[in-house]
Amino acid sequence: MLRDPLDGEGILSGQLVGRRMVELFEEPSSRTVLSFSTAMILLGGSVIPMENTSRKKKESWADTAMTISMNHPHVLVVRITDETALEKMMAVSTVPIISGGAGRDQHVTQALLDVFTFLERMGSLDGKHIALCGDLKNGRTVHSLAILLGLFPGIKLTLVSHQALQMPEWVMQELSRRSVSVVVADDFQSVAQDSSVGVLYLTRDQAERVDGNGSEGFGSCRLTDELILSLGANTLVAHPLPRVEGEEEVPPSFDKDARATYWRQVENGPPVRAALLEWVLGVLKAA
Ligand code: NCD
Repeated sequence: MLRDPLDGEGILSGQLVGRRMVELFEEPSSRTVLSFSTAMILLGGSVIPMENTSRKKKESWADTAMTISMNHPHVLVVRITDETALEKMMAVSTVPIISGGAGRDQHVTQALLDVFTFLERMGSLDGKHIALCGDLKNGRTVHSLAILLGLFPGIKLTLVSHQALQMPEWVMQELSRRSVSVVVADDFQSVAQDSSVGVLYLTRDQAERVDGNGSEGFGSCRLTDELILSLGANTLVAHPLPRVEGEEEVPPSFDKDARATYWRQVENGPPVRAALLEWVLGVLKAA
């Protein structure tokens, strides 16, 4: 039984009393927004959600960031579809900005909590074999995760997707620049049955980010009941969630299996984001 990550250890000890965090989430969010809010409240700070902003009146990202800065919060968390927005905001913001997910680009804090969860379960990631599966083209979590995993010595990544949904070139270049061992695959079934895989990381097809023919290859990475029967005994199954109701990438019947790590990923969201908030706000020094 894994312990409650919010229990003890002193990480959540009211270190941010009097600090204010603005949350500007333009895209839907369940886990990210809730865990940032939970983290800030547990640390003693306050949360200011921004909804229905003047972006709808065609205000620029720069002016939105200036408006936030002039209210002097201590930190801003944003989730934006426009992948150029963060840079425009950072150019003028006097407040530190944390990305809670940027369009089809990156989701860095999800990668942090994913890696934290894998380390908790596996002890070390050095030399481990991790398979990232699904819509690798449009899903942002796998971009940040591949890059972060590439920092661990000897790691081996298998990138599993339909040919139409492969990892973008910029991520591949970054992995190659760091000489990460990468295999590109399209046969999900054989990867799911490969017992050398330490983590099988599934993702959903990003239906809202494609139009017209963009859905080619959707549905090619699903862990069916039949495949679960030949899954490696020590292969963890991870997922950033949400999974798609009725077309689940991992069936809910697998949730209680000891290899299912996705609800623990959710549970690790508040403590990992709390540590990040403490670090960004200067009360926690990186080791
Ligand atoms: C992901 C996201 O928003 O990118 N979810 C999350 O933050 N846990 C995954 C997704 O939407 O597919």
